[in-house]
Amino acid sequence: MLAIIQQEIQKRQLITNELRYSNLIPQGGYKSPDEHLFEDVLVSLVLKKPVLLKGPSGSGKTKMAESIAALFNQPMHSINCSVDLDAESMLGFKTVVQKDNQTMIEFIEGPIVKAMKLGHLLYIDEINMAKPETLPILHSVLDYRRMLTNPFTGEVIHAHENFGVIAAINEGYIGTTPMNEALKNRFISYSVPYISGEQLAELLDETYDDLQMDLKQMMLNLSQDLRQQVITGLLSEEAASIRSLLDAIDLAQHIDISRAIQYAISEKLEDQSEKQLVMELANTWIG
Ligand SMILES: Nc1ncnc2c1ncn2[C@@H]1O[C@H](COP(=O)(O)OP(=O)(O)OP(=O)(O)O)[C@@H](O)[C@H]1O
Ligand SMILES: [Mg+2]
Repeated sequence: MLAIIQQEIQKRQLITNELRYSNLIPQGGYKSPDEHLFEDVLVSLVLKKPVLLKGPSGSGKTKMAESIAALFNQPMHSINCSVDLDAESMLGFKTVVQKDNQTMIEFIEGPIVKAMKLGHLLYIDEINMAKPETLPILHSVLDYRRMLTNPFTGEVIHAHENFGVIAAINEGYIGTTPMNEALKNRFISYSVPYISGEQLAELLDETYDDLQMDLKQMMLNLSQDLRQQVITGLLSEEAASIRSLLDAIDLAQHIDISRAIQYAISEKLEDQSEKQLVMELANTWIG
């Protein structure tokens, strides 16, 4: 691993996190699709640059963000973007509290404010699902200024040196709008593909303690076929989702493999012909 990443890991590992935030430090386990991707993402974060992960559903974007937080021993706060995401759910809100028999107004800090002040990571999921007018508030947070004037309190917040932002998008989905240029321009962008071959075999070995060899080999073969048909255009990209494949393996340990594949992979596809093709491919490998 690159020296600047190693130094940063050592530096951040030394920080003791408050107990109430330690449950925000996730588990790792992301497998890089090649020798560079994971490390290249880490370089951006060490350089305090926001990272945008672009990839289809079930390609490990969330897992990658969690693995970064695990590696740096850093709590991670998450925001799920949707059309009703508003400034309050990102920054926090004012509320009335009773203290020493007095009624006072207190500001309850939201995920962005907390992550900035405490030097935690901020994961912004489905960033292109948010209403375009919601996110410009983030512009000063995401560029070299790394600061925010909280519109609810007037407080000027400068981000802690360890604060980092990881955003994720599923491009071209229904309900997503293309990301505003000024927002997109602030991120370093990475494509996150589905893993295959050796990486996928390693993931299966690490995920399952006692996966039968024949089931493992069958699923690796099927995954290879599904990828091939995605390339030829006969299947939509999500047919090769790693999430779906893992679901199929989970089910196949208890029910018939064919039904497991049907429920976890085939039935999710829109087209009748795609559903059928998945089952035909599966049947060539099921003994
Ligand atoms: N490269 C990978 N390394 C480790 N696990 C992976 C990888 N790719 C997928 N997975 C596994 O597949 C499942 C789905 O991954 P994850 O939730 O991170 O996908 P995602 O890209 O965030 O999907 P979505 O866009 O639907 O949120 C998880 O169980 C995850 O551990
Ligand atoms: Mg995700």
